[in-house]
Amino acid sequence: MSQELWTAVDEYICERLLAPDSALDAAAAASEAAGLPPIAVTANQGKLLELLVRIHGAQRVLELGTLGGYSTIWLARGLPAGARLVTLELDPGYAAVASENIARAGLSGVIDLRVGPALETLAAMHADGEEPFDLIFIDADKQNYPGYLEWSLKLSRPGTVLIGDNVVRAGGIIDPANDDAVVQGVRGFYELLADEPRVDATAVQTVGGKGHDGFALGIFNRRD
Ligand code: SAH
Ligand code: DHB
Ligand code: MG
Repeated sequence: MSQELWTAVDEYICERLLAPDSALDAAAAASEAAGLPPIAVTANQGKLLELLVRIHGAQRVLELGTLGGYSTIWLARGLPAGARLVTLELDPGYAAVASENIARAGLSGVIDLRVGPALETLAAMHADGEEPFDLIFIDADKQNYPGYLEWSLKLSRPGTVLIGDNVVRAGGIIDPANDDAVVQGVRGFYELLADEPRVDATAVQTVGGKGHDGFALGIFNRRD
């Protein structure tokens, strides 16, 4: 098994199953041209996000970590008319690229992009009485995943779907010698999930164009 093979299989899947989408292609190209790090979800992962939004019938989606808005546009593609997506990004330069990509995709009226440290934005949203979200995609800085999970629960209702990206990190999570802050954050996320009776969750390893990683999927069961 090799990266080359995983990438080639991703290409096989994308060529067959994903319809051409000029707005998504333009968003990827503009993000690359602006020098954003190449860490957006792959196209087939993006399609999974769209499908999860549709399968759940989500009307209110929250994303943590916008980057250039690539996953944001995929999530928004799954929404019905009149639905809303809030996405949080720390870096104003990345947010400016995302904003243009979102406008080009014709989604400016659907997507509310808020710039700042997500923990602060989440606290402000909660204090302002933000309505609960139907689906939350956690994909910002991994160090803060435990905090993001806690705020996500406060912004959830029974039935809210939680998705956490990058929860395997090439197996780094099980290496006791790995004390990287990213890995520590992801481990903290698992520990919190394990101790949290209000959430039923699993995680699935993935290989593909972005290497060996994985995503967590959960459902918020009850408010108590
Ligand atoms: N969801 C994107 C990728 C996000 S990469 C996609 O798949 O297309 C992670 C993003 O989180 C980066 O853009 C980074 O700037 C942002 N980020 C890092 N720390 C953050 C923080 N404290 N608050 C909000 N966003 C943060
Ligand atoms: C990386 C990948 C991601 O999907 C992400 O959200 C952040 C970082 C990475 O590979 O470094
Ligand atoms: Mg990610």
